[in-house]
Amino acid sequence: MKRSTLAAFRMNAKIFSAVVMVLACCSSLAAARSPKALKSLGQGHRMTSVYNFEDGTGFVADLELIKRTEIYGPDISPLRMVVRYDSDDQVHVHITDSTQTRWEVPQDLIPRPAVPTLALKGESNAAASNGRQLELSYTVEPFGFAITRTSTGECLFNSTPPIDSKTGEAGFNSMVFKDQYLEISTQLPQNNSMFGIGESTRPDGLRLMRNRTYTLWATDMAAYTVDVDLYGAYPFHMDIREGGATHGVLLLNSNGMDIYVGEDLLTYHVIGGVLDFYFFAGPSPLAVVDQYTKLVGRPTPMPYWSFGFHQCRWGYENIDDLRYVVDNYKKANIPLDTIWNDIDYMDAYKDFTFDPIRYDENKVREFVEELHANGQQYVLILDPGISVAYKNYSTLERGLKDDIFLKNEFGNNYLAQVWPGPVFFPDFLHPKATSWWTTEVADFFKKVPFDGLWIDMNEASNFCTGSACSFETSSLGTLGMLRGNDSSNDQCILRCVNGTSRFDNPPYKIDHVGTYNNLGDKTIAMTVKHYNGALEYDAHNLYGLSESIVTQKALQTVTKQRPFILSRSTFVGSGAHTAHWTGDNKATWEDLKYSVVSIINSGMFGVPMVGADICGFAGNTTEELCSRWMQMGAFYPFSRNHAAIGTDSQEPYLWESVAVSSRKALGLRYRLLPHLYTLMFEATKSGAPIVRALFFSFPDDLETLTINHQFLVGNNIMVSPVVYPGHTTVNAYVPKGTWYNLFDFSKVTSKGERFVLSAPADSINVHVHEGQILPMQEARLTSAEVKKTPFTLIVAFGDASFASASGKLFVDNGVDLEMEVRDGSSTFVQYFAERSLQSGSLVGRVISGDYALEQGLVLHNVRLLGVAMSPSKVFVNGQPIAAAEQLKYDANLASVEITGLNVAVGKDFEIKWESQESVGWASQ
Ligand code: NOJ
Repeated sequence: MKRSTLAAFRMNAKIFSAVVMVLACCSSLAAARSPKALKSLGQGHRMTSVYNFEDGTGFVADLELIKRTEIYGPDISPLRMVVRYDSDDQVHVHITDSTQTRWEVPQDLIPRPAVPTLALKGESNAAASNGRQLELSYTVEPFGFAITRTSTGECLFNSTPPIDSKTGEAGFNSMVFKDQYLEISTQLPQNNSMFGIGESTRPDGLRLMRNRTYTLWATDMAAYTVDVDLYGAYPFHMDIREGGATHGVLLLNSNGMDIYVGEDLLTYHVIGGVLDFYFFAGPSPLAVVDQYTKLVGRPTPMPYWSFGFHQCRWGYENIDDLRYVVDNYKKANIPLDTIWNDIDYMDAYKDFTFDPIRYDENKVREFVEELHANGQQYVLILDPGISVAYKNYSTLERGLKDDIFLKNEFGNNYLAQVWPGPVFFPDFLHPKATSWWTTEVADFFKKVPFDGLWIDMNEASNFCTGSACSFETSSLGTLGMLRGNDSSNDQCILRCVNGTSRFDNPPYKIDHVGTYNNLGDKTIAMTVKHYNGALEYDAHNLYGLSESIVTQKALQTVTKQRPFILSRSTFVGSGAHTAHWTGDNKATWEDLKYSVVSIINSGMFGVPMVGADICGFAGNTTEELCSRWMQMGAFYPFSRNHAAIGTDSQEPYLWESVAVSSRKALGLRYRLLPHLYTLMFEATKSGAPIVRALFFSFPDDLETLTINHQFLVGNNIMVSPVVYPGHTTVNAYVPKGTWYNLFDFSKVTSKGERFVLSAPADSINVHVHEGQILPMQEARLTSAEVKKTPFTLIVAFGDASFASASGKLFVDNGVDLEMEVRDGSSTFVQYFAERSLQSGSLVGRVISGDYALEQGLVLHNVRLLGVAMSPSKVFVNGQPIAAAEQLKYDANLASVEITGLNVAVGKDFEIKWESQESVGWASQ
C-alpha cells in the first residue's frame, strides 16, 4: 500500500467525494437531550480527507474542528478516525488526536489488534468480505458516523444529530473532543431495550432506564446504595431491537464517564482518553457476548471445587472459629467446600502475615491440611495496601527495593490509609510488580497452602483523601489500629493536602455521587503516577483489573494449578482473570431481589463466575430471609454466605428451617455440578454467561425482557425464587414450552404466561425446559465426593408426538491450568435423544478424551421426562436390560426411570426403548 503522501491524499480526496454516504437511518428528532450536554459545544467537525485501506477492510479519515469553544478546555483538532471491519460481525471505530498520543487502555491489560496505521497491508483476518453484518457510513459536515445492520438496513448507531425541520435545531451535539471532555451521542429508536453498563445496583431491573445517567467510576461504595457507580466499570451495552435482533456497543475507555440514556438518544460524556468503539453484530444476546468476550478476553476457567458452597464472614476471630464452622456444617449435613478468612487472620492487617496468637501460622497450616484431607478448601483475603507502619516487614521492604509503589506528584511513594493504617499501594502496571507479588504469594503459600485469593478494596479504597499525605507514628496507637482488631475504624489519621489540579477538579464533573463528590475522594489521588507516568486520573478504573492479572500470574507460577481469584473491582476483560462478587449488600429482601440483576449483568460483562453475599452482608439477617437466600444463592455461579463484622452469625446450620432449605437447594446444586462445570467450559469457549436473563434463551418473547427476579442457569434451567417475605408461592413467568420441576419432576406447560407456583418455606422452584439433557451426579457434602459418584442423565422431552433433546458434559481433574478438550486430561461428551409416541433412543458420543474412562466414571441412571407410554423393552448397547426392577414408569409424571445401568461415561453408548404396541426397530 502506498504511504499517505500528499499525492495519495489528493488522489483520495477524489475517492472521498465518491464514497461519501448520506445517512438515512434513525432520522427522528431526538427530543430529550442529555441534561449535561451544553448546546454551545455542538458545532462538531468536518471530514477533510479519507484514505481507504488497500485490503478493503476500512479507512482512515481526518477530521477538522468547525468552531472552537473554550468550555471544558480547548478542542483538539485535527482528529484522526480509523475504521476497521475486524470481522464480519465486528466494526472498530477509533478516534483520537492526530498529532499527540493519548491515554488508552493498555494493550497488556486487554490485548487486542492494534489500531491500523496508514501503512496497513492486508495482513490481518479482518473482513473485506461481502458477508459483513454491519456497515459503517458517515456524513462529512458536520461529521458523524452510523452503523447499520446490512441484512435489514436498520440503523444501530448514528452520531449525526437529527435536525428539526421547523427550528433548524440539532437534536444533540455533534462530537466534541477535548483533552478532558469527549462527548458523542447516538440516535435511538424508542422501542428498543438496552442492557448492561455498570457496575451499579438496579432496583428498576435489568433494562436500562430512559432519562437516566449511568456513571462509571470504580468506587468503594456499598452495593446496597442503589443507582450509583459501584466497584467496577463497564462501558458496554447490549441493544435489543424490535423483532429481537441484538447488537453490542463497547466504548473501550477507562476514564470516568457518564452515559446518559434518553428517550431517543444515548450520550457519552467522557473525561479523557479516546473514542474507541467496537460494534458487535450479534444478532442474538449470546452471539453479542461471544463477540465481545472474543475481543476483551474469554472468561478464565474456575476450578471445579469453586462451584461448591463457600462460607465466609468478617469476624471469625480465631482458627477455632473456622474449625467450629466447618464441623457444624458437617454435623448439619450441609455441603461445604470452602471456608474463607477475611482480614481477621492477619497480623495487624498486614498482607501475607498471620496473627501470631489468634491465627498461629502452624495451626492454620494444620487446619488447612485437615481441610484438604477432607476434600475442602481454604481461601483468604488480601488488600492492595501494604502497611508502612512497621519495621522488618519484608513485603514492604522488597516492594521498596523494587520500587513498585505508586508515586505522588512529587515523586514520593504515595501514602494512603486502609485497615493496617498507613499504606503504600502497589502499582500493578509496573513491570516489576508481577515478580514482587509472585514472591510474596510464593512465601505465603509456603506458610499455608491456601487454595485461592480474594482481592478486596481494589478500587482502590482509601480511608483518606489527598494528593500528598503524611503520618506521625504517635497517631497510630491512638486509634488502636495496631493489632487491636479494631477494623471498624476507618477514620483518616493521616495529614493530607487536597489536590487542586485539573485532574482533581476536571472541568466536567461526572455524577460521582453518594457520600463522595470528587474523583479522588477516598481513593488514590488523581495526580498519582503509575509506571511510565500514567496518571491515576486515566488508569483509576483499571486498578482491580491490573491486580487481578498480576495475581493470576502469581498463582499460576506458584501453585501450577488453575487459580481461583475473587476481585471486588473489575473492568471490561476482568473475567479473563477473576471471579467477582457484587460487594457489600444488606440483609434485606430488596437486596435479595437486586442480586439477580447484578449477577446477570456480571455474566453479560464477561465475568460469569459471580455471586452475591448470601443472607446479606450488612445488618442482621432473619431466619426467613436467610432461608430464601440460601435457596436462591444455591444457584448463583459463585455461591458464598458472607457477613460483616459485628453482625449476627448467619451460617445456615443455625436455624433448623435454614438448614432444611440449604440441604435441599444445595443438594440439587451439588447434583448439578457436572452441568455447572460444563457451563464453565462453555463460558471459556464462547463467553456464554453461566447465569443468564430469560431473554437469552427466549429472545422472541418480549415478556422475558421485563423479568428481573427469575434467571436461567445455562440455556434451559430456570430458577424462580421467592423474593418477598411471607410468601409461599411465586408468581413466575414461564416462557413457552414444557418445563419440569427438578425436585419432583412435576410439569408446567406454558404458552408463555404467568403461573402461581407453589413454594413452601423449604422449597425453591427450579425447572428444566424441554429439549435439555442434564448430566447429574449424586449429592454429597463436598464437590470432591460428588466427583466420584455415578451419573444420572435427565432427559426432558416436550409434549409433541415427536420430541428431541440434547446436552453436553465436560469433565477433567478440575485444577489443570487449561480447561481444554484434550486426550488424556479431559473428556467431552455430547448427548442426543429423541422419541416418538412409542419408542425412543438416547445416545452418548464421546467427542474427545480418555479422562472419564481412566477415572472409571459410570452412568447408572437415566430419567426420561415426557414419555407418554410405559416402555416395555429397554436395550442398552443392543442388550435388553437385565431385570424388570431396573425400569420404573410413573404415568402421572410421564416419567421413566432406568436404574442399575453400568455404562461408561467415557464411551459411546446407545439406549433404546419401545412400548408394547410398538413395532419396528427393536424387533429387527
Ligand atoms: C469490604 C468487602 O467488601 C467485604 O466483603 C469485607 O468483608 C470487608 N471489606 C473486610 O475485609
